Amino acid sequence: MADSIWLIGNKGMLGTELSLLLEKSGLPFVGTDCEIDITDTAALEQFAKKQSVGWIINCAAYTAVDRAEEDAENCRRLNTLGAGNIATCAKSIGARLIHISTDYVFDGNGNRPYREDDATNPIGVYGLTKREGELAILENNPRSYIIRTAWLYGRHGNNFVHTMLRLMNERDEIKVVNDQRGSPTWTFDLASAVLAFIKNVDAGKDIPFGIYHYTNEGNITWFDFAKEIFRQGREGGQIVKDCAVKPCTSAEYPAKVKRPVYSMLDKSKIKAALGIEVPAWEKSLTEFLKSNDDFKP
Ligand SMILES: NC(=O)c1ccc[n+]([C@@H]2O[C@H](COP(=O)([O-])OP(=O)(O)OC[C@H]3O[C@@H](n4cnc5c(N)ncnc54)[C@H](OP(=O)(O)O)[C@@H]3O)[C@@H](O)[C@H]2O)c1
Repeated sequence: MADSIWLIGNKGMLGTELSLLLEKSGLPFVGTDCEIDITDTAALEQFAKKQSVGWIINCAAYTAVDRAEEDAENCRRLNTLGAGNIATCAKSIGARLIHISTDYVFDGNGNRPYREDDATNPIGVYGLTKREGELAILENNPRSYIIRTAWLYGRHGNNFVHTMLRLMNERDEIKVVNDQRGSPTWTFDLASAVLAFIKNVDAGKDIPFGIYHYTNEGNITWFDFAKEIFRQGREGGQIVKDCAVKPCTSAEYPAKVKRPVYSMLDKSKIKAALGIEVPAWEKSLTEFLKSNDDFKP
């Protein structure tokens, strides 16, 4: 049997996108979610032994950024211990690992796009545990690729675009923060980049292990993103009424956790390694809305 890909977290937002893409690509894969608990080393090892796995992709994580502040222990169990367990398991079966991390490992005080080797300084529990997870992975299985991404949205989960589409159909006015800058990322584009690692390496290309950054192209605020969602959503019929989109500051939006005000990620390394072009955020939003055309206002 050919070595297959083990997709962990296959029922999450990114995991579902990856499942569909893997199915389409014809690459052999198996997917698991909570039924193989990543905090349980024995369960991971037992499952791994029954397969012939050449790659593990990990999309499982604790992703409730606000809740994490009051639930640090559970967050760390998944994002640090779980990630480390997966790396140990990958090493024991000789598999390469692709793991997804986040812009939240940075504090957001930078003034140019963050590079992979810039100093990390997470400002919340989620970012801290994700950084600890990166370190555990690099220690437990050096044959790992860690892809940091940001502002993820897609068809298969709760996310900013779905929330905006819903609110814009319900309300006459919404306020959106205009003092946090970053780049949105469509799950389809990120999933395609993940597959590009596998295809390139399996084809014999030497791509160094380590950390890579991937988001869509663009430098915008959540307010800019919301305005464009409104414009395109109205044009495409997914928003059926007018809604005034107004800017506000993060201070006006009480949240349990501080979010990085600047989370642009430099993508030069991944573009050079994979020879890929990264789609602009507006174009990906258009493609997403087209693929999401069964969305009911
Ligand atoms: N969403 C973003 O904006 C964003 C931004 C940057 C980076 N990321 C990173 O991107 C990756 C994918 O994010 P996502 O938004 O697709 O996540 P998601 O939708 O929350 O999916 C995570 C999946 O992991 C599962 N899971 C939870 N506990 C588990 C356990 N103990 N064992 C096995 N599976 C478990 C979850 O199941 P349940 O739902 O049943 O708990 C869920 O299906 C994560 O590493 C995340 O940190 C996300």
